[in-house]
Amino acid sequence: MMPQKKIGAIVLCSGRGSNFESIAQAAQNGKIPLEILALCSDREQAPVLDRAKRRGIAAYVLNGDRTQRETQLLAYCEKLNPRFLVLAGYMRVLSARVIDAFRSESGYSRITNIHPSLLPAFKGLGGYTQAFNQGAKETGVTVHLVEPELDSGPILAQESFSITDCRSALEVEERGLAIEHRLYPETLAWALTEQFRIEGNRCLRA
Ligand code: GRF
Repeated sequence: MMPQKKIGAIVLCSGRGSNFESIAQAAQNGKIPLEILALCSDREQAPVLDRAKRRGIAAYVLNGDRTQRETQLLAYCEKLNPRFLVLAGYMRVLSARVIDAFRSESGYSRITNIHPSLLPAFKGLGGYTQAFNQGAKETGVTVHLVEPELDSGPILAQESFSITDCRSALEVEERGLAIEHRLYPETLAWALTEQFRIEGNRCLRA
């Protein structure tokens, strides 16, 4: 079998980087057709920067306000020419300027994100904590394409899990993260090849 052509992407992450790690691992093992061209973070102290360096992946900090950060990001994109942006715990909302720079001919954005809830439930920060505090019986994980409205783009994959026996938001998060680390690479494996069609707010695998 011919080796699959790799698709270049820049990964964006604000902090810990456990999703970055699982994606980078899958890419380096050849499980997803992805070449991480760089890791960008909006926080100088983000642990993910070291994770990237340890893997030999270029790591850049985006400084300043949103406009300045995005100008730097677009300059890296100009230089590295990624086909996708992969958001993995990037705690900033991207402006239409960046999203439109990654639009396909048919109109979807080539930017993916992972969100810690079953969207459209529990948008915004702290999805697992929101679910726990509201006494939800179950919550989940969503991988989706990014649109300017927060946590709203077409859904690539979702997986739910029961939280009735969780005694803290931390327990919910631990359960959720274990799913994230499998679901995001699994989803990227087909989503990056763009073998899908969009129906309503769902991306259906072709
Ligand atoms: C994850 O829960 C992800 O779903 C959310 O932010 C968290 C990032 O964690 N968007 P990490 O930096 O990947 O460890």
